[in-house]
Amino acid sequence: MLVETTDVADRKRAEALLAAEKQLLEMVARGHSMSEILDAICQLVETTASGCYCSVVLVDPSGTRLEHGAAPSLPVSFVTSIIGRPVNEDSGPCALAAYLNEQVISADLTTETRWAAYEWCPMALAHGLKACWSTPIPSTTGTVLGAFALYFNEPATPTLLHQELIEQFTHIASIAIESARTRSALQESEERFRRMADTIQDVIWITSLDPERILYCSPSFERIWGLSVEALLRNPRLWRDTIHPDDRERVIHRLARWIAGEDVSYHDVEFRIVQPDGQIRWIHERGVLTRDERGAPTLVSGISTDITARKQAEEGLHEMRAALAHVARAATLGELTASIAHEVNQPLAAVVMNGNACLRWLNAAPPNIGKAREAARRATHEGQRAADVIGRLQGLFRRAETAKTEVDINDAIADVLTLARTELQRKRIVLRTEFAPSLRPVVGDRVQLQQVVLNLIINAAEALAGVDDRPRDITVTTVRHDDDHVLIAVSDSGIGLGGVDLERIFEPFYTKKNSGMGMGLSIARSIVESHGGRLWATPRVGAGATFQFTAPLS
Ligand SMILES: Nc1ncnc2c1ncn2[C@@H]1O[C@H](COP(=O)(O)OP(=O)(O)OP(=O)(O)O)[C@@H](O)[C@H]1O
Ligand SMILES: [Mg+2]
Repeated sequence: MLVETTDVADRKRAEALLAAEKQLLEMVARGHSMSEILDAICQLVETTASGCYCSVVLVDPSGTRLEHGAAPSLPVSFVTSIIGRPVNEDSGPCALAAYLNEQVISADLTTETRWAAYEWCPMALAHGLKACWSTPIPSTTGTVLGAFALYFNEPATPTLLHQELIEQFTHIASIAIESARTRSALQESEERFRRMADTIQDVIWITSLDPERILYCSPSFERIWGLSVEALLRNPRLWRDTIHPDDRERVIHRLARWIAGEDVSYHDVEFRIVQPDGQIRWIHERGVLTRDERGAPTLVSGISTDITARKQAEEGLHEMRAALAHVARAATLGELTASIAHEVNQPLAAVVMNGNACLRWLNAAPPNIGKAREAARRATHEGQRAADVIGRLQGLFRRAETAKTEVDINDAIADVLTLARTELQRKRIVLRTEFAPSLRPVVGDRVQLQQVVLNLIINAAEALAGVDDRPRDITVTTVRHDDDHVLIAVSDSGIGLGGVDLERIFEPFYTKKNSGMGMGLSIARSIVESHGGRLWATPRVGAGATFQFTAPLS
């Protein structure tokens, strides 16, 4: 690149060029705009090779058209006539140089025959230009960024010195164009990211791990957390403190295990946060890990979404379902009024009878204390029986929040059967039970599980209503299903499932009965599923249907 320095003038010129090159590269490094740098290049070349005009045209991003780069000394009408020309063989010397990726020298435009289709030579000659040398500006990847051209008022052929000058400045132009393009692409992508991060409702964040430092957190953080982003940047552990105390340990533990690579490969967790004013919000957070070449985690980036509204809707739904289940339970129990009245009346009658007997024994002469005591004891026993029935009823009527405890499922079912027994007898239905002995307790809500059984028994009794040609029976069984579940089945010899859609019967409002609401099975299924079990129906061998569900053992 350096010019052979044979005499002082040459050496001075070489030094001046070196200084110019340094100055241009500094402009690139300082981030001067591309057009400023290209203008400076042109002016430098124009002063160095006197009598020439210099221009830079760029190839547009699609690679098909010429764009303006710089031409500080050429007339505007000349420049505008070149801009927008297609990058091909025919539209002009710069287009051709860019098209071929080769230098194009036209030493005398008056005799030039190329580019006639676009009438380029007459246009240049009209501007007083008689020679043009155009050199492609290559990118580091080998594509052509544009062309660097020198024009003269007289016919001219490049000397070695000219060629060295062109080579040197083409190289600097290439650096200037590429760095400007990279910078603007970066700016654009940063701008795009920022616009997205600023407008989306979610919080986007990036945290470095060692040391723990928040590198970025989008502004939505302030809205959702009620804390400033600056406060978070100052103290990266702040987000831990904002997690609801009941969720904190679980979330931090999970995160630590995930980063350590002991857990799932994807971070996906829901938790509550407490805002400074005490408000609670639900957050759904997802994240990805970035690792270094050795596989050690370095960065965590993620998105946190405020799902409070969804959680509230879910809670509302849950409450509504509980309310509905309660109403349905009351309705079901209403159907059993006769049976329940009988259950209470029987022991009450026995209490009265035994009370009378006790009085008679005491009034006898002499009083028979032994017999009186026995009658009193029987009265107490029967009174207790009535109280028990009332107690069970109250349990079923109470609108208690779901509470999962350990439930003796056989015992819970026996309670329900006590309430239904007389009603079933009145309908001449034989009730059988086959309970699995020594079962581990079920984990669940006793009243809800009882409601499922009650719904199935009422359905079974209703399915037996029109059956006269065979024994009417309902069998309730409990049996170990697998290591962790018990299977509870209610089967009947009723009309069976011939006329029903086996999946739709579990949907709300599906009913085949005139007075039915179609809610029984849908409530039963939602209860069973909220216990982590399954409820399904199968035809019973012979006649009738079996409805069965699983429930988790402790
Ligand atoms: N044991 C059964 N035998 C035959 N069909 C049944 C049995 N249990 C339920 N079905 C069918 O499934 C339908 C839906 O039952 P579900 O308990 O959901 O509603 P319903 O009994 O009709 O009304 P509700 O229970 O709300 O008073 C019933 O209408 C009936 O057609
Ligand atoms: Mg029903």
